[in-house]
Amino acid sequence: MEETPSTNTSLRLSGKIAIVTGGASGIGETTARVFANEGTRVVVIADIQDALGEQVAASIGYQRCIYVHCDVTDEDQVRSLIQSTVNTYGQIDIMFSNAGIINSTNQTLMELDMSELDRLLAVNVRGMALCVKHAARAMVEQRVRGSIVCTGSIAGSHGGSRSTDYIMSKHAVLGLMRAASVQLATHGIRVNSVSPNGLATPLTCKLLEMSEENAQEVYKNLARLEGVVLTPKHVADAVLFLVSNEAEFITGLDLRVDGGFVYGK
Ligand SMILES: NC(=O)c1ccc[n+]([C@@H]2O[C@H](COP(=O)([O-])OP(=O)(O)OC[C@H]3O[C@@H](n4cnc5c(N)ncnc54)[C@H](O)[C@@H]3O)[C@@H](O)[C@H]2O)c1
Repeated sequence: MEETPSTNTSLRLSGKIAIVTGGASGIGETTARVFANEGTRVVVIADIQDALGEQVAASIGYQRCIYVHCDVTDEDQVRSLIQSTVNTYGQIDIMFSNAGIINSTNQTLMELDMSELDRLLAVNVRGMALCVKHAARAMVEQRVRGSIVCTGSIAGSHGGSRSTDYIMSKHAVLGLMRAASVQLATHGIRVNSVSPNGLATPLTCKLLEMSEENAQEVYKNLARLEGVVLTPKHVADAVLFLVSNEAEFITGLDLRVDGGFVYGK
């Protein structure tokens, strides 16, 4: 019989069922591809960019990846994402809660636009909590010793001269991850986060109004480490580590993928 990634047991995620929110683009898209290459039975991409999400699922292959429209701010949609995954595939082993946004206005403290803040917190905090909540419920009900990873940011551990709402939201992600890791440990469920430094993705290229190459030049100044530029693949590999058996005793960890963050060289 021809061996497909999901039947090759030497792969690190062989046979696992994974959900990736924000999987239509950037870090989520790359992580969905890494998961599929490491043998997941299926990767469910949950996003609001339908055409892009379908395109990513098709390029990975519909037998190993599907796209589901899910606005993470809407509890009914998150509940339905989880239920449909469990109904179709039996359980959820991995939740990569990654969907996030940043406001294009400066959002300095004294000019803080509260409706923009509310919109951002709805995705980055409420959406993150909903995905962790419903994935955890499904794992507990099914007695799955699953793994949940949230996407934080270096903005979760530092202040900054702008993006006050984004900084607040990423601090909240760390709080959510830590609370969840304590409460779910008794069920054998691990919860961690990955915190990237700035990197070029559709999110930041749009924010900076720059090409990928120019955005990379800007972000080089935020890392002490020379000779390497942070890419979505570096972040995806850190997520892969956290969800794999190699991290079997790791929970409550914020894994920074930051090349030694510095405010500017
Ligand atoms: N790019 C960076 O520099 C950087 C650094 C640190 C952390 N992050 C975080 O990484 C995560 C992914 O960002 P990215 O840079 O890959 O950006 P991206 O824009 O390429 O990807 C984010 C995805 O989330 C989706 N999304 C947005 N709102 C959603 C919603 N309500 N429901 C479902 N999906 C939604 C978008 O459609 C998009 O596909 C975010 O949480 C971001 O805050 C990014």
